[in-house]
Amino acid sequence: MRIDIMTLFPEMFAGPLGYSIPKRAQEAGLVDIELTNIREFGLGNYKKVDDTPYGGGPGMVMMCEPVFNCFEHVEQLDPEPGRVLMMSPAGRKLDQKLVRELSGEKRLILLAGRYEGFDERIQQGLGAEPVSIGDYVLSGGELVAMVVVDSVVRLLEGALGHEESATEESFSEGLLEYPHYTRPVEYKGMRVPEVLMSGNHAKIELWRKEQALERTKKWRPDMLDDCDGTDEEV
Ligand code: ADE
Repeated sequence: MRIDIMTLFPEMFAGPLGYSIPKRAQEAGLVDIELTNIREFGLGNYKKVDDTPYGGGPGMVMMCEPVFNCFEHVEQLDPEPGRVLMMSPAGRKLDQKLVRELSGEKRLILLAGRYEGFDERIQQGLGAEPVSIGDYVLSGGELVAMVVVDSVVRLLEGALGHEESATEESFSEGLLEYPHYTRPVEYKGMRVPEVLMSGNHAKIELWRKEQALERTKKWRPDMLDDCDGTDEEV
C-alpha cells in the first residue's frame, strides 16, 4: 500500500509514524508513506496558501490553487490513482468498518489542513471524501491523518505480530474489549479475577463475554442500540 499525505507540517508525522507498528510496517515494505508539503505550492514570494473567507467570519481558508497544484504533483508520483480523503470534522466518522475498508485500498491520498478549513471547491474538484475522527475540533488535520494511517496500517497483512493480533477483536465483536490482567496476582489489594487463573477456557470465554457486554452497557450503550442481534460489527 502507498499512502501520500499532503500537509503544511510534514515534521509532525516523523514521531508518531516512526515508532512501533507503523515503523515496522514501513521497514517491512508493507506500506510506503510519503509526505508532501503544501507550502511548496504556495503562491508568490510568501508562498501563500490561505486567505480570508468570502462572506466574512473568523480564521483563514486554504486556497484552491496551492492545494490543487500540490495534488496534481502528488497524484503523478505513483500510477495508482488512489482514494482521496480530506480530514474534516464535517465528514464521515472513522470507525473500524471504514478502517478495514481503507486497509484494502492500494493507495490513499490524505489531505490534512490547518486554519478554518479548505475552500469547498477542493473537496469537489479532487473528489475527496471528508473523514472525521469524532465530534470535537482539533487545531488541524495532521493528528487526524495520523490516526487514519495508524489504524489502517496495523490491519495490513503481516503488520501485527501474532501476540498483538487479538486487539482487533474489540470492535469486530460489536462490543468493547474485555478487561486484561497480567502478573502479579495481587497489586495494592486488587486481585486478578479467579476465573482467569482457573484454566477453564469455556468459563474464561464466558466471563470475558459478560465483561465485554457490561462495559459496553456502561460506556457505549449506543453500540448496543446499533446491534441487530447478529455478529456483525457496528
Ligand atoms: N479537523 C479538525 N478536527 C477534526 C476532526 N475531529 N476530524 C477530522 N478532521 C478534523
